[in-house]
Amino acid sequence: MRKKILVLGNSNVDFVFKIPRFHHPGETILAESLVTFFGGKGANQAITAKRLGGNVHFITKLGNDLYGKSYRHHLIKNGLDQKLILKDKKLPTGMAVIELTPKGENRIIAFLGANGSLSVNDLKRLERYWKGVDVFVTQLEIPFSTVEKGLKMAKEQGALTLLNPSPPVQLPSHILPLVDFIVPNEVEAQLLTGIKWKGDREIRKMAEKFLDQGVKNVVITLGSNGLFLKNRSEEFWMEAFRVNVVDTTAAGDAFLGALASGLIENKPIQEVLKFANGAGALATTKLGAQPSLPSRRDLNMFLKRIEVGKTKRS
Ligand code: RIB
Repeated sequence: MRKKILVLGNSNVDFVFKIPRFHHPGETILAESLVTFFGGKGANQAITAKRLGGNVHFITKLGNDLYGKSYRHHLIKNGLDQKLILKDKKLPTGMAVIELTPKGENRIIAFLGANGSLSVNDLKRLERYWKGVDVFVTQLEIPFSTVEKGLKMAKEQGALTLLNPSPPVQLPSHILPLVDFIVPNEVEAQLLTGIKWKGDREIRKMAEKFLDQGVKNVVITLGSNGLFLKNRSEEFWMEAFRVNVVDTTAAGDAFLGALASGLIENKPIQEVLKFANGAGALATTKLGAQPSLPSRRDLNMFLKRIEVGKTKRS
């Protein structure tokens, strides 16, 4: 039987405002364009894992509105099981306002909407879908009690658990021992550990702090500076791939989805992280969250091209 990835998380409709620069408090600026995309960290991660060929199940909640209807349709079209796409009768579908500069940098404001009512009871009702889960992935744009329950249910199944602590909230100490891979970016790692980031030394200290709190593996993503992995037996830095950045939205989600896919294939950790690193890089080359998530074919071709490039230079 094919190994199973279960993603628990939010779905948002993203409103992307292309702006010339980030503006100041009290200042009004005009956007050059406004485009709408399907997004939300949970959905982005699930769709990446699916596009990379995984047997993916995705638990999420949409609103009882037009956005919810078309999002449901979109998820089903992407091969996700409609029985796990829940509906809140009163709250609107989750939304995000994304400010995007010409450098591809973004600032995001998310409104939880229906994502905020994805509850522990919902998970209990879907208990049968947890059977035989191999890799479990979640983030923090749904209620924390639901994240916690999800981690526990996954551990009861003996699954490998991945937590993307975004947006960062103070994590209670009993949660971290349930986490096999914590994957924050440097800003989130700084907020979660209270260690101010000045350079590599602090990144290592942040990772050590997570390990001391019971996490098994720490992957800190560093944007254009690559990533750092640390566990009890190894640590290494990995450089980022150089690409033409259009929009960094969902790069972290592509990384998470690919990490889950790589881990399920039992590849060595260096190889898995290279795969995830490639997915993250590719996701920055296109506008919008979900249009930018790579397929297995695109990612393999990208990684191959990089290898050929390396051989030619050496
Ligand atoms: O990580 C990017 C995502 O964060 C966006 O798609 C937005 O919806 C927010 O959830």
